[in-house]
Amino acid sequence: MSKLLLFAATGRVGSALGKRLVADGHEVHGVTRGGAGIKKLTEAGITPITGDIRNPSAFANSITGFDAVFLASADAPDQDRQEMAVIDLLAAQDAPHVVKLSAQSAGLPPPVSFGVQHRASEEHLASRLKSHTILRPVFFQQSILLMKDDIARKSSITVPMGTGQSAMVNIHDIAAVAACCLTDRAHSGKTYTLTGPEPVGFADVVAALSDLLGKKVKYTSPPAPIARIVMPFATGMPRWQTNQIVDLMVAIRRGAQQQVTADVETVTGTPPRNIQSFFEDHVADFTA
Ligand SMILES: NC(=O)c1ccc[n+]([C@@H]2O[C@H](COP(=O)([O-])OP(=O)(O)OC[C@H]3O[C@@H](n4cnc5c(N)ncnc54)[C@H](OP(=O)(O)O)[C@@H]3O)[C@@H](O)[C@H]2O)c1
Repeated sequence: MSKLLLFAATGRVGSALGKRLVADGHEVHGVTRGGAGIKKLTEAGITPITGDIRNPSAFANSITGFDAVFLASADAPDQDRQEMAVIDLLAAQDAPHVVKLSAQSAGLPPPVSFGVQHRASEEHLASRLKSHTILRPVFFQQSILLMKDDIARKSSITVPMGTGQSAMVNIHDIAAVAACCLTDRAHSGKTYTLTGPEPVGFADVVAALSDLLGKKVKYTSPPAPIARIVMPFATGMPRWQTNQIVDLMVAIRRGAQQQVTADVETVTGTPPRNIQSFFEDHVADFTA
């Protein structure tokens, strides 16, 4: 059994990953800024490490002695520099294997949106640590849950994705791949692009939601320049973040996430979950 460290352990991917690793009998430690995160990790059988990734040297002593490390972080204007500082601390140790959660947009020629910083972080990782694996997921199926209030209140979804499609991937498949990569160094040096089994557009999403909820759910796609102006007010997100989202949506409109890969099944031996199974798993979330 391995001794494993998870960054962003309370996040969507980190939570699913931690649960899986604990169930498999591994010793799992997870980083959180504290508060509710400590309770959440403890209840999941994970040893909490309190720390802020913006200042990793403050908890450097707590992140040594692991067999492998899951490096994930929240999107931020300096996400690449945050991760590079962690990579430098890990590189000073006895070479743990590092699995980095990146994004498919980091692999585009050229990288776009959140992928620009992920690519810089990936390159730093490759230059500092020989034993590493990079995971580049496309749009998470679970990101549709972020729209559930609009779906409940207005029966509508507004996303600037036009008729673009993404082979949306389920976080549980990302977690399954990450678990394999953390516990088997045969995946060292590999970069996996993680997708679901088919491209999905928001016209498909509202059709599925309309069936599921028994009411018509509408899809509106504003032009990118309008979305850039409106999104910070409509979502409450900072402008740097909404601009990144619009950049990603523009790339998806041009076909950037249409391609399906076999990587989830190649690594885990199980085909990726489709969007229908995501909706079936989340009926209660959309009907609450
Ligand atoms: N959303 C998508 O469709 C998508 C697609 C591809 C790639 N990605 C990538 O996935 C990553 C996000 O993963 P996720 O969705 O699983 O995370 P998430 O659900 O957004 O959760 C964020 C995590 O980061 C932690 N965190 C936030 N600020 C922190 C800080 N200053 N110091 C330490 N920890 C901090 C939080 O922990 P505490 O709150 O407990 O401190 C939490 O565990 C991003 O890098 C994104 O680019 C996302």
